[in-house]
Amino acid sequence: MEFDKVIRDRMATRKFSDKKIDEDTINKILEAGRIAPTAKNIQPIKIYAVSSDEGLFKIDKASRCRYNAPVVFIVCGNIEEAFKRGEHSTYIIDSSIVATHMMLEATNLSVDNIWVDLFDEGILRSEFNIPKSYIPVSLLMLGYKTDDCPYNIMHDKRKELSDIVEYV
Ligand SMILES: Cc1cc2nc3c(=O)[nH]c(=O)nc-3n(C[C@H](O)[C@H](O)[C@H](O)COP(=O)(O)O)c2cc1C
Repeated sequence: MEFDKVIRDRMATRKFSDKKIDEDTINKILEAGRIAPTAKNIQPIKIYAVSSDEGLFKIDKASRCRYNAPVVFIVCGNIEEAFKRGEHSTYIIDSSIVATHMMLEATNLSVDNIWVDLFDEGILRSEFNIPKSYIPVSLLMLGYKTDDCPYNIMHDKRKELSDIVEYV
C-alpha cells in the first residue's frame, strides 16, 4: 500500500469479526515493531502477543475495549533500562513509536486495529506476570472489522494545520 494511503486509511476499529489473523501476518506486524527506533537504540521493549482464549479472557478482565479483537499486543516499556535525561525516561516514547510502527504495518496489511489506553494496569500486570520494571503503555487490538462496524466519525475531525503549526 502507498504510505500516504496507509496513514489516511488507518482508523480506530471498535467492532471486530471472529476472523483470525494468520501467524505470518502477526509476525510481520511484530517485525515492524522490532525495527522501530528507540532512544540510544536501547530497545527497552517487551510485547505480549495475546491470541489464546485464555489470554484474551485475561485481557477482558483488564479492559472493556477489546471489541472482540482476536489478537491483542500489550506493548510495555522498561522504565529502568530506557534512556534517561535526569528524571525523564523515554520508555513511553520508545514504546509508543514501536506501537505506532505496528499499527501502521497492520493497516498496510489490511489488518484493522485500535490503540487502547483504557486498561487496568494492576490487573494486566498480575494476569500476565509482567515484571515490575516493564510498564504496560498501550494495548493494540488487531483483527478484521465486521461489515456493520460503525464508521469512526472522530476520524475526520482534525484540527487545521494553521491550528497546530507555527512557521518560524
Ligand atoms: C493514545 C491513544 C489512546 C486511545 N485509547 C483508546 C481507548 O482506550 N479506547 C478506545 O475505544 N479508543 C482509544 N483510542 C482511539 C482514539 O479514540 C482514536 O484514535 C481517535 O478518536 C481518532 O480516530 P481515528 O483513530 O479513527 O483517526 C486511543 C487512541 C490513542 C492514540
